[in-house]
Amino acid sequence: MTDPNGAPTMAPGTASIPTHVPRDRVIDFDVFSPPGSQADYFGAWMRLLNGPDLVWTTANGGHWIAAGGSTVRGIWEDAMRFSNEALAVTPGLGEVMQFIPLQQDAPEHKPFRSAVMKGFAHQYIVATEPLVREETIRLIEAIRAVGGCDFMAEFAEILPVHTFLSVIGLPPEDRVRLRPLGRQLTRPDGSMTVVELRDAADAYLEPHIRERLANPGPDLFSRILSVPIEGRAWTFEESQRMCRNLLFGGLDTVVAMLGNIMMHLARHPAEQEELREAPGMIPDAADELMRRYPTVAVTRNCVETCEIDGVTIERGDLVYLPSVLHNLDPRSFETPEKVDFARKLTQARHSTMGAGPHRCVGAALARMEVIVVMEEWLARMPAFALDEGAQTTFRAGNVGALDQLALNWQT
Ligand code: HEM
Repeated sequence: MTDPNGAPTMAPGTASIPTHVPRDRVIDFDVFSPPGSQADYFGAWMRLLNGPDLVWTTANGGHWIAAGGSTVRGIWEDAMRFSNEALAVTPGLGEVMQFIPLQQDAPEHKPFRSAVMKGFAHQYIVATEPLVREETIRLIEAIRAVGGCDFMAEFAEILPVHTFLSVIGLPPEDRVRLRPLGRQLTRPDGSMTVVELRDAADAYLEPHIRERLANPGPDLFSRILSVPIEGRAWTFEESQRMCRNLLFGGLDTVVAMLGNIMMHLARHPAEQEELREAPGMIPDAADELMRRYPTVAVTRNCVETCEIDGVTIERGDLVYLPSVLHNLDPRSFETPEKVDFARKLTQARHSTMGAGPHRCVGAALARMEVIVVMEEWLARMPAFALDEGAQTTFRAGNVGALDQLALNWQT
């Protein structure tokens, strides 16, 4: 339901709404399925920018949604009053996953995050680049002569899993087992419970974690697990929670990003040409496209009652923070829907990779993957376009992503 300005109208039944929530802030908006998001994911979210900066949705058990750029960003950075413990409005997800470092608050968070950051140090990203490039080229060469592909199934869903398996030193064939897990976490289809999902991830990871704790190698898990936590070794349980976090954090997010960027380039042949002629612009273009197509949303639980945007958020309330509503709010960025390769924003100014103490630890790895894909795809493929006969559909979720993206080109 929307009013003439496009903002969702107030929800009719208000019986179960907490008394501190003003009735004129109540809407019925399912964050896992915003109306119209299948066809236009970004447009569906942006309708919330026409209303107040904080709204309460009755969907999914009832929670706040920060619906204005500065409010999204402000709460994201406010780790004192908003905790990461809850993880998501998906029932049970936080209690079951117990991610390290994602679900930790200060002061516990710091030593774990610092160990993880060491594992992602610049020299390792540089060392990983040739592996990512090699696989990117292999995937492109496998489809180039065909004249078309479903970019999601034949490229975007393969490369990030392959990259992740390379950095943790495991065989690429394992991707068949891992890929569905990332998707279930961020866009659950009901076929697996949260516990089954965690157990499937743990069953895969357990022997590798034990091996790396006993005999550390040069891989990412070993590097992180060999950094002591305040002078002591990681326990097995902590190791498991951290590896689980990296597994789930690094798969679907990159899949979604690659899909959106390729969709944009397919729709804008002049930009493809510009970047083909000046590949030196690709890193700036990648940063701008990553700003333009944010699809991660996070949840915070309020740990100190406070007033924001004229409403009271009570201790225990959940607040949903969609990065799209910071990056695409015209009050945050001028003409935010326009892709401008000369914008030259640092990644830290937009919210695609988060903000504050939990900002993405895999940001440099993800950025490198995006740049390599753009470089190799544009260098090796002729002009490409959307296959007009096929549908381009999105699925919303904590990470929104394209289900399929049919591209074609002349051979
Ligand atoms: C384009 C791709 C990616 C996007 C859009 C993305 C987005 C995000 C966002 C928004 C956060 C903040 C979460 C919060 O504040 O609650 C985050 C945190 C995190 N990300 Fe990423 N991410 C991406 C790639 C990756 C990769 C490749 C990895 C690892 C392999 C990764 C691992 C993590 C981890 C472990 C955290 C938690 C950091 C902490 O709590 O201190 N991410 N990511």
